[in-house]
Amino acid sequence: MYVSDCIDINSKGHLTIGGADTVELAKEFGTPAYVLDECEIRKNCRAFVKSIEDNYNGNGLVLYASKALCCKELCRIAMDENMGLDVVSGGELFTALSVDFPAEKICFHGNSKKYSELVYAVDAGVGRIIVDNITELETLNAIAAEKNKTVKILLRIKPGIDAHTHDFIKTGQIDSKFGFAIETGEAMEAVRLALDSSCIDLVGVHCHIGSQIFEIDPFELAAKVMLDFMLYVKKETGAELSELNLGGGFGIKYLSSDAPRPFTEYMEQVSKVVKTYSKELGLSVPFIYIEPGRSIVGAAGLTLYTVGVVKTIPDVRTYVSVDGGMGDNPRYILYQSDYEIVCANKADRERDFVVTVAGKCCESGDLIQENTKIQKVEPGDILAVLTTGAYNYSMASNYNRIPRPPVVMVKDGKARLAVKGESYEDIISNDI
Ligand code: LLP
Repeated sequence: MYVSDCIDINSKGHLTIGGADTVELAKEFGTPAYVLDECEIRKNCRAFVKSIEDNYNGNGLVLYASKALCCKELCRIAMDENMGLDVVSGGELFTALSVDFPAEKICFHGNSKKYSELVYAVDAGVGRIIVDNITELETLNAIAAEKNKTVKILLRIKPGIDAHTHDFIKTGQIDSKFGFAIETGEAMEAVRLALDSSCIDLVGVHCHIGSQIFEIDPFELAAKVMLDFMLYVKKETGAELSELNLGGGFGIKYLSSDAPRPFTEYMEQVSKVVKTYSKELGLSVPFIYIEPGRSIVGAAGLTLYTVGVVKTIPDVRTYVSVDGGMGDNPRYILYQSDYEIVCANKADRERDFVVTVAGKCCESGDLIQENTKIQKVEPGDILAVLTTGAYNYSMASNYNRIPRPPVVMVKDGKARLAVKGESYEDIISNDI
């Protein structure tokens, strides 16, 4: 009925997630609160891991893209599900290492890594550093030399694919701050420099063509472009790169009308391309990494709010203002992202009330959704914004000094805290 498998309605007419009554959760943990279903997360992790087994005979590694939602508990789950981790900052790396995530299964990304972050990654022994630019390559070689280490790297390549997604989250074209373009010669220049760097071991290449992509073709095309480049490297330098990281970006359903291709289908089809095309080019099938983020946690989460005010402006619109907003979910203000919203305590009633759901921040654009249909609501009702597991908690801010909500993890109907909600004391804790 709803966008996610883990969401349902119980006999009281309340919305449930992972078998837990969201109205009860709102009472227990307060609102706003992010709620995630652990079983749904693990189900997605397992499907990706199995797809590497099935399609590549296990010759690959699924890296959970922790930028989608990074906290200790998610790192523990990813570790428990035999996944690696994609981290993009010292903070994400620190979170992973704090739960003893095996460093060799961590890939460190970023287009503007700080010197201190590179030192941290080398000291920690992260498995692969995904090098984005020449400055980083030179700096990393110097750091490794000083520490008498050799660092395994992949180079981030722009395959130049135009994936049909929102402009702001398209990262594969030439005009992107990420990586080296092939056609300008930058990518080959980086390969030569990496091969000539005494403390760098260039093992492969990486690409990521964007996020929330519904079609499979752009991924297939990207895989081919990358294999072509690997052949080009072999011909030009004699080096045979053994690893190919195809990034993340698999689209999920935010609206019931969305129809992304299931990621299992993506894995199957792309692996066929990787295998047949490698053979055609005379290359060995590389070790494959994929980096799903949104598709692991997105649909496993929702956010609970309490309705504070219902304000109808005749002939204009009705604002339903809640006790959270752009601070805990900046995706509407950033990308005009779609969401389905349900009144959790009236979930069995018809959604025939057209409203704009607004936040409590001092900013007109602080909206969560415009002209969306929800049940007829009044102050005190609980609203659930669905599919907020990815890029909500991780992109949250303290704008207006509003504390960030807790992250609640549900498993088989039972709930526990994964991240405590912030207090006012937390808000001033670093003020001098
Ligand atoms: N790998 C790399 C190198 C990435 O840059 C990303 C996402 C991923 C993997 C994971 O992509 P996913 O499977 O989650 O689509 N804040 C935006 C999304 C930005 C994605 C950035 N990179 C949003 O809220 O939609």
